[in-house]
Amino acid sequence: MPLRLVGLGVVTVAVLATSRPAMAADAAPTFTKDVAPILFEKCVSCHRTGEMGPMPLTSFAEARPWVRAIRAAVSARVMPPWLSDDPVGTFSNDPRLTDSQIATIQRWADLGSPEGPVRDLPTLPALADGWRMGTPDVVLDGGAFTVAAQPRSVYGDIDIATTFREDRYITSAEVRPGNKAYTHHANVLVKDDAIGQARIASYSPGGGAKTYPAGVAKLLPKGATLNLDMHYNPGGQSRVDPGTRIALSFAKRQVRQIAITAQSSNNQIDIPAGEANYERVGRPFEFKEDSHILTFNPRMNERGKDIRYTLVYPDGTRKQLLSIPKWNYGWVFSYVLAEPVAAPRGSRLEAVAHWDNSAANKFNPDPTARVPFGPEILNAYFEYTIDAQDLTRNTQN
Ligand code: HEC
Repeated sequence: MPLRLVGLGVVTVAVLATSRPAMAADAAPTFTKDVAPILFEKCVSCHRTGEMGPMPLTSFAEARPWVRAIRAAVSARVMPPWLSDDPVGTFSNDPRLTDSQIATIQRWADLGSPEGPVRDLPTLPALADGWRMGTPDVVLDGGAFTVAAQPRSVYGDIDIATTFREDRYITSAEVRPGNKAYTHHANVLVKDDAIGQARIASYSPGGGAKTYPAGVAKLLPKGATLNLDMHYNPGGQSRVDPGTRIALSFAKRQVRQIAITAQSSNNQIDIPAGEANYERVGRPFEFKEDSHILTFNPRMNERGKDIRYTLVYPDGTRKQLLSIPKWNYGWVFSYVLAEPVAAPRGSRLEAVAHWDNSAANKFNPDPTARVPFGPEILNAYFEYTIDAQDLTRNTQN
């Protein structure tokens, strides 16, 4: 019996070898050579111990039990998460897999997910358990915060006074919640009489570090207060958040331009119960000077359905710059344009969003509720620079 099996095996190999010459053996993807590089580049920033991914994927032993789930998630393009749609906009932080990376994972899974020789394994990227942005200049701490025992959506509003003696220019910022298990998001805003409110960074599954292009920075005026806008889902238990931390790095040389936060938003929201396609247009933002748009930071809540940003040129031509056809309030990304988009003087940026307050929306906590502004928002933030600004020449603002 054992002898016969061996014989059959040999025959099978021979048939394979003749029907698929060359390819069969050497093109079969292995974990160490073909799959690990993809996971290390695209997955382990979240799928590692201490991060938000539900399981670590940093080794063959860790990935092996998840092969079917990984195959399904990458084939359906739900992992890595990303909301913007092609072909609108090219974003430098777009994490999606290429078609060939997806095909590699599919083939690897279909061929029995072999490990491959250990010598092929690339080194795991050195993702510090600390900060993704590198070593910060300062770390500010929001302090402990008691979260009320509600199932979900407990909001925190925490002010942090800064004590810098002069204006600072933020080149990188990152937010780390005290506990990721029940922190849904943490936004950091600068509050200042002169510049009003400006968002500098935010944490949510998907968000985190933010770095500006060379020569561009966010102004942190002397004496400004940072405000932490927290959203917790404490799951019905009272919790004590040990404290959200904010890491900042400041410009070492003089910056040329300030990244200005603006928005095309709308507070006039009143969604009827059960309405499946409620529309609101954000107040258009008009560029007073020739400018360049850097990033988009759209925000809606559970009933958000889709959102689009359009630039309307002075001659009326319209160009869509960001399209999110399926909103998911759990993934709050900054969409960083690979090439800043020129917005000439007199052009307007306009956001249009829809909400689904019907039972068909799986995130909807209550389709029978009429929903005003507050529980739902249209905050179509973006950042831009003014072309003529050159602080290094002291021509200012
Ligand atoms: C931005 C963070 C992030 C990145 C990057 C990311 N994931 Fe995930 N992943 C998550 C989170 C959070 C969940 C759980 C919530 C969910 O499913 O939406 C998840 C869920 C999954 C699941 C489902 C697990 C289950 O319980 O069935 C699989 C499989 C998966 N990820 C694989 C991947 C792979 C493969 C990659 C890279 C190609 C990747 N993820 C990249 C955050 C991430």
